[in-house]
Amino acid sequence: TARIAVLASGRGSNLQAIIDAIAAGTLDAEVIGVLSDKPDASALLKVAPERRWARSPKAFADRAAFDAALGDALAGFAPDWIVCAGYMRILGEAFVQRFAGRLINIHPSLLPKYKGLHTHARALEAGDAEAGASVHFVVPDLDAGTVLAQAHVPVQAGDTPEALAQRVLAVEHPLLIASLRWLVAGRVAERHGQLQVDGHPLFSPLRL
Ligand code: GAR
Repeated sequence: TARIAVLASGRGSNLQAIIDAIAAGTLDAEVIGVLSDKPDASALLKVAPERRWARSPKAFADRAAFDAALGDALAGFAPDWIVCAGYMRILGEAFVQRFAGRLINIHPSLLPKYKGLHTHARALEAGDAEAGASVHFVVPDLDAGTVLAQAHVPVQAGDTPEALAQRVLAVEHPLLIASLRWLVAGRVAERHGQLQVDGHPLFSPLRL
């Protein structure tokens, strides 16, 4: 049973999808900690109080100090995998190196398109015919790590960023669970920027 820690800043619907998959017996894992940069994030309420850690970055001198505290709390939970699921704060290089190889993120775009914020508005602005979400390994450069899996949705006539976000979110949940199933089973790994499935190189992301 894999020990999963989740970093979340808000609502936590992706965290809820993980909790639901574990309860349904489709993901062999345990959510051992939820950590946040927003002490009022509703994601925190989805786990028991002893599994929560949240601090406001304002209470720390700088990014390095916050990251060190977050990292120490995270290490205290002894996670096998760390999932950024709606975690909206940039992680510094030292933090990323400390947890390299077991740190993944779900991002609401078809990477490498639209790193960073406002992904849906940017996809609509560009006139894209499709949008989607990506699960990727975290590297120090924002949203630039190797992509493990992607899910695609159509852009529809008259879409607003909110409508598109909702359609993408609906596929994020199964995308994240499928990705975690591969990861916790030890079937997929990333070495030197190269994705491997069952020990064989994979040259493009899995598509769901
Ligand atoms: C999700 O759409 C996730 O992809 C996105 O925030 C939302 C969190 O929803 N993440 C990012 O934008 C990361 N830069 P949730 O709190 O309901 O899981």
